Amino acid sequence: MQPAEWHLGLTTTCSPALLSVLCILVTQLWLGSSCPSVCICNASEADCSGRGLVSLPSLGLLPPSTHTLLLSNNRLSSLAPASFANLTALEHLDLSNNYLDKLPAGVFAQLPNLTALSLRNNSLTVLETELLQGLLQLRTLDLSLNGLSVVPVGLLDEQAGLRWLSLAGNRLHALERAAFEPLANLQHLELGNNPWECDCNLRDFKHWMEWLLYRGGYVDAVECTLPKDLRGRDIRGVPVEMFNYCLQLEDENGAGAGGTKGGSPPCNRATAAPPSEGIVTAGEAGLPDCVKQRYRPVSVRRAIGTVVIAGVVCGIVCIMMVAAAAYGCIYASLMAKYQRELKKRQPLMGDAEAETDPDDKQISSVA
Ligand SMILES: *[C@@H]1O[C@H](CO)[C@@H](O)[C@H](O)[C@H]1NC(C)=O
Ligand SMILES: *[C@@H]1O[C@H](CO)[C@@H](O)[C@H](O)[C@H]1NC(C)=O
Ligand SMILES: *[C@@H]1O[C@H](CO)[C@@H](O)[C@H](O)[C@H]1NC(C)=O
Ligand SMILES: *[C@@H]1O[C@H](CO)[C@@H](O)[C@H](O)[C@H]1NC(C)=O
Repeated sequence: MQPAEWHLGLTTTCSPALLSVLCILVTQLWLGSSCPSVCICNASEADCSGRGLVSLPSLGLLPPSTHTLLLSNNRLSSLAPASFANLTALEHLDLSNNYLDKLPAGVFAQLPNLTALSLRNNSLTVLETELLQGLLQLRTLDLSLNGLSVVPVGLLDEQAGLRWLSLAGNRLHALERAAFEPLANLQHLELGNNPWECDCNLRDFKHWMEWLLYRGGYVDAVECTLPKDLRGRDIRGVPVEMFNYCLQLEDENGAGAGGTKGGSPPCNRATAAPPSEGIVTAGEAGLPDCVKQRYRPVSVRRAIGTVVIAGVVCGIVCIMMVAAAAYGCIYASLMAKYQRELKKRQPLMGDAEAETDPDDKQISSVA
């Protein structure tokens, strides 16, 4: 109802100044009192998109049957905690292309039937862990094109029903596996256009991602930015064995930290990471998951098996080669010896012949 909104809304919908009065009249006539004057409503949908709104219109007037509320392409930069109170039937909420930089923890708490939420292309840098609490029907969540650097552990804890999630185009360099484990029914995950650091911090998440793919889910390209030798590589194509050194790091660090912590499971992966400093992971909340995270997936176990078998085969081949070489040497030396003896004997036989020949001649001559 603010004059500023009025003005902005009207200039976008009815640009010629003369038409603006007509515009007001028409909207008033058609929509009655239950629709905010800047929006276009029918029984199930309220379209307040592209009106240049800097604050929310009074949504308490919306018909209680409203399923869809479009607030995209406005200039909203903040929302009051009770902004969406009483819209219990709402299923689709579109807040994309605004300037929201943070959201109060309980802002969506009164929307138990919400199935699709879009916060695409805002300025969000942090999300409250409680932001999605109570949204048990959520199927689609779009958080793309924001400034998020962390997905807090706990944010997605109630989202076992989520099917589609986009985190593309943020500032994520690592993700906690524990934050994503509740997503038992996820089918589509977008992670592209983030500055991923493909080091030990991403190893456990990679395992989770492989499990998602194994279930038939979809993940888009996850291109590494760091380390340098993996830049541009898709982490899905980086063999899991390349992260084996993490286990070593973890074990070394675990042995060191276990004594100081006294009883708590040794798990300092976040701090054990190689020189990639500046990674702030929400690790504290995930400590109980340490034991889970130490589980070695099939591929690692298979790799160890392969190494053992290869070692045994190599050993057998080596032994056979040594035996063959030894046999060759012995045979060669025996032959050499035999040859030498043969040579030694041959001249003797020649002498004997030479000695016998004259004898024969003598004998023959005598004869
Ligand atoms: C409400 O409007 C939207 C688009 O403006 C349309 O798709 C929908 O069918 C309409 N619903 C009703 C009940 O008129
Ligand atoms: C929401 O509903 C409650 C009662 O159910 C009412 O007291 C309150 O004023 C309503 N809030 C809004 C914003 O309409
Ligand atoms: C929420 O959804 C359920 C099941 O789809 C429906 O029975 C219920 O009426 C909805 N709540 C509101 C307030 O419309
Ligand atoms: C993001 O939002 C801004 C402002 O609302 C808009 O100008 C820009 O085109 C949007 N970008 C995309 C990719 O939607």
